Amino acid sequence: MTQPATAESTLPGIPGRQTEDGPTTDVVGRPMPEFPEPAPRATHGPARIVAMCNQKGGVGKTTTTINLGAALAEYGRKVLLVDFDPQGAASVGVGISPHELELSVYNLIMDRDVGLSDVVRPTAIEGLDVVPANIDLSAAEVQLVGEVARESILSRALRPALADYDVILVDCQPSLGLLTVNALTAAHGVLIPLECEFFALRGVALLVETIDKVRDRLNPDLEVDGILPTMFDSRTLHSREVVQRVHEAFGDTLLHTVIGRTVKFPDASVAAEPITAYAPTHRGASAYRQLARELVDRGHYA
Ligand SMILES: Nc1ncnc2c1ncn2[C@@H]1O[C@H](COP(=O)(O)OP(=O)(O)OP(=O)(O)O)[C@@H](O)[C@H]1O
Ligand SMILES: [Mg+2]
Repeated sequence: MTQPATAESTLPGIPGRQTEDGPTTDVVGRPMPEFPEPAPRATHGPARIVAMCNQKGGVGKTTTTINLGAALAEYGRKVLLVDFDPQGAASVGVGISPHELELSVYNLIMDRDVGLSDVVRPTAIEGLDVVPANIDLSAAEVQLVGEVARESILSRALRPALADYDVILVDCQPSLGLLTVNALTAAHGVLIPLECEFFALRGVALLVETIDKVRDRLNPDLEVDGILPTMFDSRTLHSREVVQRVHEAFGDTLLHTVIGRTVKFPDASVAAEPITAYAPTHRGASAYRQLARELVDRGHYA
């Protein structure tokens, strides 16, 4: 009996393997579906609000918010990015200078007189708007504590956007504090970017506990839309083992798409552009397009 020859997958950014005549598989060996190109939309809304969440820093939340947003916009979706991190990295990443902001997401949630239309800005990408943030937002964490219904302030503030957008992506800061709880309370779904390194797994258990609490107490319909492995290094066994462990623990919540490690992402941040615009044919851009198609195919986004 001859063993089928294996070769590195030719799929964009997917370090799975394929046999010569067998099906292509993902990193953990599941058959890799062909995700169809999303059908164009004649009308927009109602939006799904998605919180990009992981209390661990530097795992690819902001990179995923920007690039998934840009990829969905390429497929004709109307997308709103909400920068909900006082670092303002998502705002900078789409070309907005945080120091020059007169109004930001801080004013949206703290000032009764400021509405969504006062803070939404277009970006250079068609179909992609942003509610920017800057360091002002760091004060909100403390100020919100004294507010009535303090966990649902963002939910209320985003309500007017639901009819106009297809997807609203909220880029959370690396903490499980009140701002992140606000994002989880406003959200229909959570996406969890997970850096492919061993200690990442412990953090996910804590995050899932927080998501469960928010679901119990504040937002009964909250779903986990997927766990997305990021910074995957196909040359190491380690990356593959981490994804395998995530699959054992969380089953098909693990997405098929994984994002490979490449310096093109930091390069694109320096250029303040999504990778889909900065290096449109790079495998990193293809990987985020595939993520967009996978999430639409899962039925999460219309
Ligand atoms: N797939 C990748 N390959 C290589 N570098 C990446 C990748 N994804 C993100 N990066 C880089 O890693 C750094 C952290 O990424 P990012 O800012 O998206 O993480 P984050 O989770 O939003 O961080 P924070 O918790 O500080 O908000 C950035 O410099 C980014 O350019
Ligand atoms: Mg970030």
